[in-house]
Amino acid sequence: MITRRNFLYGVSGTMLAAAAAPQLAWAGETSKLVVLGKEEMIVRSFRFLDLEMPLSGFGSWVTPVNHFFVRNHMSGPVDFDAEEYRLTVGGEVDNPLSLTLKQLESLPMHSIVNTLECAGNGRGFQKPQVFGVQWQKGAVGTGKFAGVRLGDVLAKAGVKTTGKHVSFRGLDVVPGKVPPFIRSIPVEKALHPDTLLVTHMNGAVLNKHHGYPLRVVTPGWIGAASCKWLTEIKVLEKEFDGNFMKPGYRWPTRPLTPGEAVKPEETTPLTALDVKSIIAGPTEGAKLKPGLNTVHGAAWAGEDDIVKVEVSADGGATWVDAKLDPQQSKYAWRLWSYAWKPKQRGEYALQSRATDSQGRTQGAAAKWNPSGYLYNAIDQVKVHVDA
Ligand code: MTE
Repeated sequence: MITRRNFLYGVSGTMLAAAAAPQLAWAGETSKLVVLGKEEMIVRSFRFLDLEMPLSGFGSWVTPVNHFFVRNHMSGPVDFDAEEYRLTVGGEVDNPLSLTLKQLESLPMHSIVNTLECAGNGRGFQKPQVFGVQWQKGAVGTGKFAGVRLGDVLAKAGVKTTGKHVSFRGLDVVPGKVPPFIRSIPVEKALHPDTLLVTHMNGAVLNKHHGYPLRVVTPGWIGAASCKWLTEIKVLEKEFDGNFMKPGYRWPTRPLTPGEAVKPEETTPLTALDVKSIIAGPTEGAKLKPGLNTVHGAAWAGEDDIVKVEVSADGGATWVDAKLDPQQSKYAWRLWSYAWKPKQRGEYALQSRATDSQGRTQGAAAKWNPSGYLYNAIDQVKVHVDA
Protein backbone atom coordinates (compact mmCIF):
# COMPACT_ATOMS: atom_id res chain seq x y z
CA MET A 1 0.00 0.00 0.00
CA ILE A 2 1.30 3.43 -0.83
CA THR A 3 0.94 5.55 2.25
CA ARG A 4 1.47 9.27 2.10
CA ARG A 5 4.79 8.80 3.82
CA ASN A 6 5.98 6.18 1.32
CA PHE A 7 4.91 8.36 -1.52
CA LEU A 8 6.87 11.33 -0.24
CA TYR A 9 10.06 9.40 0.27
CA GLY A 10 9.51 7.48 -2.96
CA VAL A 11 9.54 10.57 -5.12
CA SER A 12 12.38 12.27 -3.33
CA GLY A 13 15.21 12.84 -5.78
CA THR A 14 13.13 12.24 -8.89
CA MET A 15 12.13 14.62 -11.64
CA LEU A 16 8.62 16.02 -11.77
CA ALA A 17 7.27 15.97 -15.30
CA ALA A 18 5.59 19.24 -16.11
CA ALA A 19 2.52 17.52 -17.47
CA ALA A 20 2.06 15.40 -14.39
CA ALA A 21 3.08 18.31 -12.28
CA PRO A 22 1.00 18.26 -9.23
CA GLN A 23 -0.10 20.91 -6.89
CA LEU A 24 2.07 20.84 -3.90
CA ALA A 25 0.96 22.34 -0.88
CA TRP A 26 2.05 25.44 0.53
CA ALA A 27 2.14 24.26 4.09
CA GLY A 28 1.95 20.65 4.77
CA GLU A 29 -0.63 19.43 2.27
CA THR A 30 1.99 17.19 0.77
CA SER A 31 -0.41 14.55 -0.50
CA LYS A 32 -1.34 16.63 -3.54
CA LEU A 33 0.72 15.98 -6.60
CA VAL A 34 1.79 19.27 -8.17
CA VAL A 35 4.25 21.99 -7.29
CA LEU A 36 2.53 25.16 -8.37
CA GLY A 37 4.55 27.37 -10.67
CA LYS A 38 7.48 24.94 -10.92
CA GLU A 39 8.41 22.74 -13.85
CA GLU A 40 10.62 19.69 -14.25
CA MET A 41 12.36 20.29 -10.97
CA ILE A 42 14.27 17.59 -9.12
CA VAL A 43 12.43 16.96 -5.88
CA ARG A 44 14.91 16.63 -3.02
CA SER A 45 12.26 16.84 -0.31
CA PHE A 46 8.50 17.21 -0.17
CA ARG A 47 8.32 17.44 3.60
CA PHE A 48 9.46 21.01 3.45
CA LEU A 49 9.74 21.80 -0.21
CA ASP A 50 13.27 21.47 -1.61
CA LEU A 51 13.46 21.61 -5.40
CA GLU A 52 16.66 21.47 -7.46
CA MET A 53 17.02 23.12 -10.87
CA PRO A 54 17.67 20.62 -13.68
CA LEU A 55 20.89 21.10 -15.69
CA SER A 56 18.91 22.68 -18.55
CA GLY A 57 18.37 25.67 -16.22
CA PHE A 58 22.01 26.66 -16.72
CA GLY A 59 21.04 27.58 -20.31
CA SER A 60 19.74 31.03 -19.34
CA TRP A 61 21.65 33.84 -17.72
CA VAL A 62 18.55 34.81 -15.75
CA THR A 63 16.80 31.73 -14.40
CA PRO A 64 13.07 31.65 -15.12
CA VAL A 65 11.11 31.57 -11.87
CA ASN A 66 9.57 28.21 -12.76
CA HIS A 67 13.09 26.72 -12.82
CA PHE A 68 14.49 28.56 -9.81
CA PHE A 69 15.49 26.21 -6.98
CA VAL A 70 13.56 26.23 -3.72
CA ARG A 71 15.02 25.60 -0.28
CA ASN A 72 12.82 25.58 2.81
CA HIS A 73 13.74 24.66 6.36
CA MET A 74 10.05 24.71 7.26
CA SER A 75 6.82 25.67 5.52
CA GLY A 76 5.95 29.14 4.32
CA PRO A 77 3.00 31.08 5.74
CA VAL A 78 -0.53 29.81 5.23
CA ASP A 79 -3.50 32.17 4.74
CA PHE A 80 -1.31 35.17 4.14
CA ASP A 81 -3.20 38.49 4.37
CA ALA A 82 -1.50 41.42 2.60
CA GLU A 83 -3.67 43.97 4.45
CA GLU A 84 -2.60 42.64 7.83
CA TYR A 85 1.05 42.32 6.87
CA ARG A 86 3.59 44.41 8.78
CA LEU A 87 7.37 44.55 8.74
CA THR A 88 8.65 45.48 12.18
CA VAL A 89 12.09 46.94 12.82
CA GLY A 90 13.32 46.96 16.41
CA GLY A 91 16.22 46.30 18.73
CA GLU A 92 19.11 48.77 18.77
CA VAL A 93 17.25 51.55 16.92
CA ASP A 94 16.01 55.03 17.90
CA ASN A 95 12.58 54.70 16.22
CA PRO A 96 11.10 51.20 16.11
CA LEU A 97 8.99 50.80 12.97
CA SER A 98 5.93 48.86 11.87
CA LEU A 99 5.56 49.25 8.11
CA THR A 100 2.81 48.21 5.71
CA LEU A 101 3.67 46.99 2.22
CA LYS A 102 2.48 50.34 0.79
CA GLN A 103 4.79 52.27 3.12
CA LEU A 104 7.71 50.07 2.08
CA GLU A 105 6.90 50.45 -1.59
CA SER A 106 6.95 54.24 -1.29
CA LEU A 107 10.74 54.06 -0.80
CA PRO A 108 12.99 54.25 -3.91
CA MET A 109 13.26 50.96 -5.82
CA HIS A 110 16.60 49.41 -6.78
CA SER A 111 17.49 46.19 -8.54
CA ILE A 112 20.38 43.76 -8.79
CA VAL A 113 21.09 40.57 -10.70
CA ASN A 114 22.21 38.05 -8.11
CA THR A 115 23.23 34.42 -8.18
CA LEU A 116 21.61 32.81 -5.16
CA GLU A 117 23.22 29.54 -4.13
CA CYS A 118 22.37 27.32 -1.20
CA ALA A 119 25.43 26.73 0.99
CA GLY A 120 24.69 22.99 0.67
CA ASN A 121 24.72 22.95 -3.15
CA GLY A 122 26.97 20.09 -4.32
CA ARG A 123 26.78 18.30 -0.96
CA GLY A 124 25.73 15.15 -2.82
CA PHE A 125 29.25 14.97 -4.34
CA GLN A 126 31.03 15.29 -0.99
CA LYS A 127 33.16 12.31 -0.01
CA PRO A 128 32.78 10.88 2.56
CA GLN A 129 29.06 11.49 2.32
CA VAL A 130 27.64 13.95 4.83
CA PHE A 131 24.19 14.38 6.36
CA GLY A 132 21.82 16.88 4.73
CA VAL A 133 19.91 17.45 1.49
CA GLN A 134 21.91 15.68 -1.23
CA TRP A 135 21.97 18.57 -3.70
CA GLN A 136 24.01 18.09 -6.85
CA LYS A 137 24.58 21.09 -9.15
CA GLY A 138 21.27 22.93 -9.19
CA ALA A 139 20.62 24.48 -5.77
CA VAL A 140 21.57 27.73 -7.46
CA GLY A 141 19.91 30.23 -9.78
CA THR A 142 20.28 33.80 -10.99
CA GLY A 143 17.44 36.26 -10.56
CA LYS A 144 16.77 39.93 -11.22
CA PHE A 145 15.72 41.09 -7.77
CA ALA A 146 14.05 44.46 -7.19
CA GLY A 147 12.97 46.17 -4.02
CA VAL A 148 14.03 48.80 -1.52
CA ARG A 149 17.37 49.18 0.18
CA LEU A 150 17.57 47.60 3.60
CA GLY A 151 19.82 50.58 4.42
CA ASP A 152 16.95 53.02 3.66
CA VAL A 153 14.64 51.18 6.07
CA LEU A 154 17.36 51.05 8.73
CA ALA A 155 18.01 54.78 8.23
CA LYS A 156 14.32 55.48 9.00
CA ALA A 157 14.68 53.44 12.19
CA GLY A 158 18.01 55.07 13.12
CA VAL A 159 20.55 52.40 14.03
CA LYS A 160 22.19 53.13 17.39
CA THR A 161 25.98 52.96 17.66
CA THR A 162 25.47 49.77 19.70
CA GLY A 163 23.87 48.05 16.65
CA LYS A 164 26.41 45.66 15.12
CA HIS A 165 24.31 42.88 13.55
CA VAL A 166 20.90 42.71 11.87
CA SER A 167 18.67 39.66 12.25
CA PHE A 168 15.76 38.55 10.08
CA ARG A 169 12.75 36.42 10.81
CA GLY A 170 10.23 35.15 8.28
CA LEU A 171 6.60 34.12 8.55
CA ASP A 172 7.53 30.42 8.39
CA VAL A 173 5.23 27.99 10.15
CA VAL A 174 7.58 26.69 12.85
CA PRO A 175 6.83 23.02 13.50
CA GLY A 176 6.85 21.64 17.05
CA LYS A 177 10.04 22.23 18.94
CA VAL A 178 12.05 23.28 15.89
CA PRO A 179 13.78 26.63 16.45
CA PRO A 180 12.60 29.42 14.12
CA PHE A 181 14.63 30.27 11.02
CA ILE A 182 16.37 33.42 12.26
CA ARG A 183 19.82 34.49 11.08
CA SER A 184 21.80 37.72 11.25
CA ILE A 185 24.29 39.57 9.07
CA PRO A 186 26.83 42.22 10.15
CA VAL A 187 25.49 45.79 10.04
CA GLU A 188 28.06 46.77 7.35
CA LYS A 189 26.59 44.23 4.90
CA ALA A 190 23.05 45.23 5.91
CA LEU A 191 23.81 48.89 5.11
CA HIS A 192 25.47 48.07 1.79
CA PRO A 193 23.46 49.75 -1.01
CA ASP A 194 23.09 46.42 -2.86
CA THR A 195 21.45 44.62 0.09
CA LEU A 196 17.74 44.76 -0.71
CA LEU A 197 14.33 44.02 0.74
CA VAL A 198 12.91 42.46 -2.40
CA THR A 199 9.32 42.56 -3.64
CA HIS A 200 9.91 41.57 -7.29
CA MET A 201 11.81 38.79 -9.04
CA ASN A 202 12.43 38.76 -12.80
CA GLY A 203 9.98 41.64 -13.28
CA ALA A 204 7.03 40.05 -11.47
CA VAL A 205 5.80 40.17 -7.89
CA LEU A 206 7.71 37.57 -5.82
CA ASN A 207 5.89 34.27 -5.72
CA LYS A 208 5.19 32.38 -2.54
CA HIS A 209 8.00 29.86 -3.07
CA HIS A 210 10.55 32.67 -3.08
CA GLY A 211 9.26 34.74 -0.18
CA TYR A 212 6.14 36.77 -1.10
CA PRO A 213 5.55 39.49 -0.07
CA LEU A 214 9.08 40.45 1.01
CA ARG A 215 12.48 38.81 1.22
CA VAL A 216 15.99 39.90 1.97
CA VAL A 217 18.57 39.49 -0.79
CA THR A 218 22.08 39.63 0.67
CA PRO A 219 24.00 39.61 -2.61
CA GLY A 220 26.96 37.29 -3.10
CA TRP A 221 26.30 35.49 0.21
CA ILE A 222 24.99 32.01 0.89
CA GLY A 223 21.24 31.62 0.25
CA ALA A 224 20.51 31.30 3.97
CA ALA A 225 21.44 34.99 4.39
CA SER A 226 18.42 35.90 2.22
CA CYS A 227 15.41 35.43 4.52
CA LYS A 228 12.08 34.80 2.79
CA TRP A 229 8.60 35.97 3.96
CA LEU A 230 10.37 38.64 6.02
CA THR A 231 8.31 40.07 8.89
CA GLU A 232 10.79 41.09 11.59
CA ILE A 233 14.13 42.87 11.53
CA LYS A 234 16.06 43.30 14.77
CA VAL A 235 19.24 45.28 15.18
CA LEU A 236 21.45 43.47 17.68
CA GLU A 237 24.55 44.26 19.70
CA LYS A 238 26.08 40.95 18.66
CA GLU A 239 25.61 38.17 16.19
CA PHE A 240 22.37 36.19 16.61
CA ASP A 241 23.23 32.84 18.17
CA GLY A 242 20.17 30.66 17.46
CA ASN A 243 20.24 27.28 15.75
CA PHE A 244 20.60 28.49 12.15
CA MET A 245 23.67 30.59 13.04
CA LYS A 246 25.12 28.16 15.57
CA PRO A 247 25.64 25.26 15.02
CA GLY A 248 24.05 25.78 11.55
CA TYR A 249 25.81 27.35 8.57
CA ARG A 250 29.31 27.55 10.00
CA TRP A 251 32.73 27.07 8.46
CA PRO A 252 35.87 25.67 10.10
CA THR A 253 38.58 28.21 10.88
CA ARG A 254 41.32 25.61 10.34
CA PRO A 255 41.81 23.08 7.53
CA LEU A 256 40.27 19.65 8.24
CA THR A 257 40.99 16.27 6.77
CA PRO A 258 38.02 14.50 5.12
CA GLY A 259 35.79 12.93 7.75
CA GLU A 260 37.27 14.98 10.60
CA ALA A 261 34.84 16.60 13.07
CA VAL A 262 35.29 20.15 14.32
CA LYS A 263 34.60 21.86 17.66
CA PRO A 264 32.00 24.71 17.56
CA GLU A 265 34.61 27.21 18.81
CA GLU A 266 36.72 26.39 15.76
CA THR A 267 34.03 27.61 13.37
CA THR A 268 32.72 30.93 12.08
CA PRO A 269 29.44 31.81 10.29
CA LEU A 270 29.37 31.32 6.54
CA THR A 271 29.13 34.58 4.60
CA ALA A 272 30.07 35.04 0.90
CA LEU A 273 30.12 32.25 -1.69
CA ASP A 274 33.36 30.72 -2.93
CA VAL A 275 34.58 30.52 -6.55
CA LYS A 276 32.91 27.71 -8.50
CA SER A 277 32.14 26.45 -12.00
CA ILE A 278 29.99 23.60 -13.18
CA ILE A 279 29.60 21.79 -16.49
CA ALA A 280 25.94 21.75 -17.58
CA GLY A 281 26.50 19.96 -20.88
CA PRO A 282 27.34 17.48 -22.19
CA THR A 283 25.90 15.44 -19.35
CA GLU A 284 27.48 12.52 -17.51
CA GLY A 285 27.75 9.42 -19.72
CA ALA A 286 26.78 11.28 -22.94
CA LYS A 287 27.62 9.53 -26.22
CA LEU A 288 29.13 12.08 -28.62
CA LYS A 289 30.33 12.11 -32.24
CA PRO A 290 33.86 13.25 -33.17
CA GLY A 291 33.94 16.85 -34.44
CA LEU A 292 32.45 19.94 -32.84
CA ASN A 293 30.87 19.44 -29.44
CA THR A 294 30.12 22.41 -27.22
CA VAL A 295 31.03 22.07 -23.55
CA HIS A 296 29.15 24.68 -21.54
CA GLY A 297 28.26 25.69 -18.02
CA ALA A 298 28.22 28.53 -15.50
CA ALA A 299 30.74 30.01 -13.05
CA TRP A 300 30.26 32.34 -10.09
CA ALA A 301 32.22 33.74 -7.17
CA GLY A 302 29.85 35.48 -4.74
CA GLU A 303 30.98 39.08 -4.24
CA ASP A 304 33.92 38.62 -6.63
CA ASP A 305 34.10 38.45 -10.42
CA ILE A 306 34.92 35.47 -12.57
CA VAL A 307 38.03 36.26 -14.60
CA LYS A 308 38.66 32.89 -16.23
CA VAL A 309 37.11 29.47 -16.80
CA GLU A 310 39.35 26.72 -18.11
CA VAL A 311 38.36 23.38 -19.56
CA SER A 312 40.35 20.16 -19.67
CA ALA A 313 39.46 17.21 -21.89
CA ASP A 314 42.24 14.97 -20.62
CA GLY A 315 41.35 14.65 -16.96
CA GLY A 316 43.26 17.76 -15.90
CA ALA A 317 46.62 17.24 -17.68
CA THR A 318 46.14 20.28 -19.95
CA TRP A 319 43.75 23.25 -19.74
CA VAL A 320 42.38 25.73 -22.29
CA ASP A 321 40.40 28.91 -21.72
CA ALA A 322 36.65 28.71 -22.25
CA LYS A 323 34.74 31.65 -23.77
CA LEU A 324 32.94 33.78 -21.20
CA ASP A 325 29.50 34.96 -22.25
CA PRO A 326 29.37 38.80 -22.44
CA GLN A 327 26.32 39.05 -20.14
CA GLN A 328 27.59 40.01 -16.72
CA SER A 329 26.69 41.89 -13.57
CA LYS A 330 28.30 42.06 -10.14
CA TYR A 331 27.08 39.06 -8.07
CA ALA A 332 25.79 37.18 -11.14
CA TRP A 333 27.18 34.02 -12.68
CA ARG A 334 28.97 34.02 -16.06
CA LEU A 335 27.82 31.47 -18.57
CA TRP A 336 30.74 29.95 -20.48
CA SER A 337 31.31 27.62 -23.42
CA TYR A 338 34.13 25.78 -25.12
CA ALA A 339 34.14 24.47 -28.69
CA TRP A 340 35.63 21.02 -28.21
CA LYS A 341 36.65 18.96 -31.24
CA PRO A 342 37.65 15.46 -30.16
CA LYS A 343 39.43 13.70 -33.02
CA GLN A 344 39.55 10.22 -31.61
CA ARG A 345 36.96 7.90 -30.20
CA GLY A 346 37.28 6.96 -26.59
CA GLU A 347 36.38 7.88 -23.03
CA TYR A 348 37.04 11.47 -21.97
CA ALA A 349 36.91 13.19 -18.60
CA LEU A 350 35.83 16.80 -19.21
CA GLN A 351 36.65 19.21 -16.40
CA SER A 352 36.02 22.88 -15.63
CA ARG A 353 37.92 25.20 -13.32
CA ALA A 354 37.13 28.87 -12.59
CA THR A 355 39.37 31.63 -11.25
CA ASP A 356 38.03 34.84 -9.68
CA SER A 357 39.22 38.43 -9.24
CA GLN A 358 40.72 37.56 -5.82
CA GLY A 359 42.86 34.88 -7.52
CA ARG A 360 40.89 32.06 -5.90
CA THR A 361 40.52 28.94 -8.01
CA GLN A 362 38.95 25.51 -7.70
CA GLY A 363 40.93 22.56 -6.44
CA ALA A 364 40.69 18.84 -7.19
CA ALA A 365 38.78 18.33 -3.92
CA ALA A 366 36.48 20.67 -2.03
CA LYS A 367 37.63 22.01 1.35
CA TRP A 368 36.30 19.45 3.80
CA ASN A 369 33.72 20.47 6.40
CA PRO A 370 31.30 18.17 8.23
CA SER A 371 28.16 19.74 6.68
CA GLY A 372 29.44 19.68 3.12
CA TYR A 373 28.99 23.45 2.67
CA LEU A 374 30.40 25.44 -0.26
CA TYR A 375 31.30 22.37 -2.31
CA ASN A 376 33.41 23.68 -5.18
CA ALA A 377 35.77 20.98 -6.39
CA ILE A 378 36.77 21.10 -10.08
CA ASP A 379 33.71 19.78 -11.90
CA GLN A 380 34.04 16.62 -13.99
CA VAL A 381 31.82 14.89 -16.54
CA LYS A 382 32.76 11.63 -18.24
CA VAL A 383 31.68 11.24 -21.88
CA HIS A 384 32.15 8.69 -24.66
CA VAL A 385 33.11 9.68 -28.20
CA ASP A 386 32.20 7.15 -30.88
CA ALA A 387 32.41 7.16 -34.66
N1 MTE B 1 13.94 32.09 4.63
C1 MTE B 1 13.00 31.55 5.43
N2 MTE B 1 12.16 32.37 6.05
N3 MTE B 1 12.92 30.21 5.62
C2 MTE B 1 13.79 29.35 4.98
O1 MTE B 1 13.69 28.13 5.17
N4 MTE B 1 15.72 29.15 3.48
C3 MTE B 1 16.98 29.81 3.18
C4 MTE B 1 16.72 31.15 2.48
N5 MTE B 1 15.72 31.89 3.16
C5 MTE B 1 14.79 29.90 4.13
C6 MTE B 1 14.80 31.30 3.97
C7 MTE B 1 17.88 29.05 2.35
S1 MTE B 1 18.76 27.85 3.17
C8 MTE B 1 18.09 29.31 1.02
S2 MTE B 1 19.28 28.49 0.15
C9 MTE B 1 17.29 30.31 0.31
O2 MTE B 1 16.28 30.88 1.15
C10 MTE B 1 16.62 29.71 -0.90
O3 MTE B 1 15.84 30.67 -1.54
P1 MTE B 1 14.79 30.19 -2.65
O4 MTE B 1 13.94 29.12 -2.05
O5 MTE B 1 14.04 31.42 -3.03
O6 MTE B 1 15.61 29.67 -3.81
